[in-house]
Amino acid sequence: MSSRYWALHDNYVPNRWSPSRLASVVLTVGCLVVIGVLISIALTEKSTAKRNSQDLGDHDQVKTEWDTRNGLRDPVSDEQSKFVLAESIPLYMTYNVNATFGTPLYKAWKDLLAMATKSVDVASFYWTLTGDDIRVNSSTDLPGRDIFKLFQDLPSRNVLVRVATSIPTVAGLSTDLQVLREKGVYVKEVNFGLLTKGILHTKLWIVDMKHVYIGSANMDWRSLTQVKELGVVIYNCSQLAEDLHKIFLSYWVLGHHNASIPDPWPSEFDTSINREHPLLVNISGATSRVYITASPPSFCPAGRTKDLDSILSVIEGAEQFIDVSVMEYFPTSRFIHPRRYWPIIEDALKQSAFDRQVPIRLLISCGRDTDPAMLPFLQSLSALHQPSQNLSIEVKLFIVPVGNQSNIPYSRVNHNKYMVTDKEAYIGTSNWSADYFITTAGVSLVVSQDAAHPSSGRQMLQEQLRGVFERDWNSQFSVALSDLGHHPDCSFTEALRKTAL
Ligand SMILES: *[C@@H]1O[C@H](CO)[C@@H](O)[C@H](O)[C@H]1NC(C)=O
Ligand SMILES: *[C@@H]1O[C@H](CO)[C@@H](O)[C@H](O)[C@H]1NC(C)=O
Ligand SMILES: *[C@@H]1O[C@H](CO)[C@@H](O)[C@H](O)[C@H]1NC(C)=O
Ligand SMILES: *[C@@H]1O[C@H](CO)[C@@H](O)[C@H](O)[C@H]1NC(C)=O
Ligand SMILES: *[C@@H]1O[C@H](CO)[C@@H](O)[C@H](O)[C@H]1NC(C)=O
Ligand SMILES: *[C@@H]1O[C@H](CO)[C@@H](O)[C@H](O)[C@H]1NC(C)=O
Ligand SMILES: *[C@@H]1O[C@H](CO)[C@@H](O)[C@H](O)[C@H]1NC(C)=O
Ligand SMILES: *[C@@H]1O[C@H](CO)[C@@H](O)[C@H](O)[C@H]1NC(C)=O
Repeated sequence: MSSRYWALHDNYVPNRWSPSRLASVVLTVGCLVVIGVLISIALTEKSTAKRNSQDLGDHDQVKTEWDTRNGLRDPVSDEQSKFVLAESIPLYMTYNVNATFGTPLYKAWKDLLAMATKSVDVASFYWTLTGDDIRVNSSTDLPGRDIFKLFQDLPSRNVLVRVATSIPTVAGLSTDLQVLREKGVYVKEVNFGLLTKGILHTKLWIVDMKHVYIGSANMDWRSLTQVKELGVVIYNCSQLAEDLHKIFLSYWVLGHHNASIPDPWPSEFDTSINREHPLLVNISGATSRVYITASPPSFCPAGRTKDLDSILSVIEGAEQFIDVSVMEYFPTSRFIHPRRYWPIIEDALKQSAFDRQVPIRLLISCGRDTDPAMLPFLQSLSALHQPSQNLSIEVKLFIVPVGNQSNIPYSRVNHNKYMVTDKEAYIGTSNWSADYFITTAGVSLVVSQDAAHPSSGRQMLQEQLRGVFERDWNSQFSVALSDLGHHPDCSFTEALRKTAL
């Protein structure tokens, strides 16, 4: 079995051309060539040249500008690379006094923007950094407004800013991108609806081609004060930044109205950094093996590990424990119709728990908007939990209290998407359901580190991530499925009540 995408592959992966379709395309292209020749005879050489340069779009212009600014890079060997876990904890959530947290995401973003001297490249599903963008009046949008202002100021500091975002979008009312354009930011809306029948769900930043951010947060004010987010910033790691930039560019070059996905991708998008050959670097004082994955498969040029393959590999590589925190877990498709059963991750988890007795803990989000259809799937996993048989699969729900913030739609949820095992840390941008690995664009970072020298006093990323998981798993916000009584902030309780009747 060469690819584990088999289950939905044949039906859903686009761009598989049948011979008859190919023939008609060849015919069409032939006709277009003839028409093209006639037209070009009719036009002057000058106007033809002008049209061609417009067709290339601003990609080449921006690329040249960018290459010039980044031409003089610091030598890689001198780099002091560093990981920082970045977290957003929604307002009015109180943990135990001794709880520890990653760097606040707001601070991490501000630091990155303050550091930028040459370029900032951002891919995000959508931009809504002010309350006005979603017609909500809340002073909790202030950090979002602040970040928005910092982005607007970048071009005047002579920093080249490029933003790739999604069509379709969920931010129809937002004026952020219009404002940014007026300030000199280059913006491309990439039509994943047409390209893959999906969305651009990736959330990544690349600063000065050496610092990167990957995580669950969109460019949304709610991600700074109302939604629980987790991501990672890696400072001073230009090899990783250059690799992530290839993924950014793969969106950027398709940001024009009649784009189609190259097959195969030109070799400039290929990578030699992947699951088989991770980048070996000294990060935060520890020898680290790191690679970046991409989704969907049609956005994985030669050498790029597919997001799903990395998830399966991390699960299969674990020996002592597998801890997972994801917003949504469905062993089915969600948006691809007809909906299909898709047990690929489910099987890998059950197999590790049953065949290899690796204990599994799943921390899944429940909020007021969560689809109650998820509950039976979680119950069926949890039903396998039999410690006496050395079979351990525990499921808890993480519920962010809504409190007096109920006027803010699509907030007050745990948006995290990560997994930590005794061997590796995985930080991603995808929910765990079929769509995110077949049609939706996403990225993830996979890291394993040798133990840091005890005298360094530094914690490895895996340890930090485990700490975050333990903190949340043992917090007052996590509820075992079996203990879920009535809870006003979790949509499952109504479903549970109905089953009980
Ligand atoms: C943190 O405090 C709680 C009680 O407030 C205690 O149960 C827990 O063991 C403490 N954890 C650590 C790591 O000290
Ligand atoms: C927003 O709320 C604040 C205080 O809650 C109020 O002073 C202000 O007038 C409101 N603005 C709008 C546009 O409703
Ligand atoms: C990045 O490396 C430079 C030295 O090359 C150092 O001055 C700077 O503090 C480092 N940045 C971070 C965030 O560690
Ligand atoms: C996009 O379509 C226009 C006609 O609508 C055509 O002139 C142009 O060459 C196309 N561009 C690309 C990059 O395919
Ligand atoms: C990693 O770099 C730190 C300095 O940042 C150095 O002290 C340490 O010895 C290096 N570790 C390895 C394994 O190269
Ligand atoms: C569970 O694991 C323990 C230790 O590995 C072993 O002694 C025991 O026989 C196992 N129990 C079952 C039911 O497999
Ligand atoms: C919401 O509740 C928190 C405490 O739970 C309080 O500090 C805050 O002022 C309240 N906000 C509003 C708008 O009522
Ligand atoms: C994950 O799933 C939920 C429910 O379908 C959706 O609202 C959310 O946008 C999805 N993606 C993210 C941001 O994780």
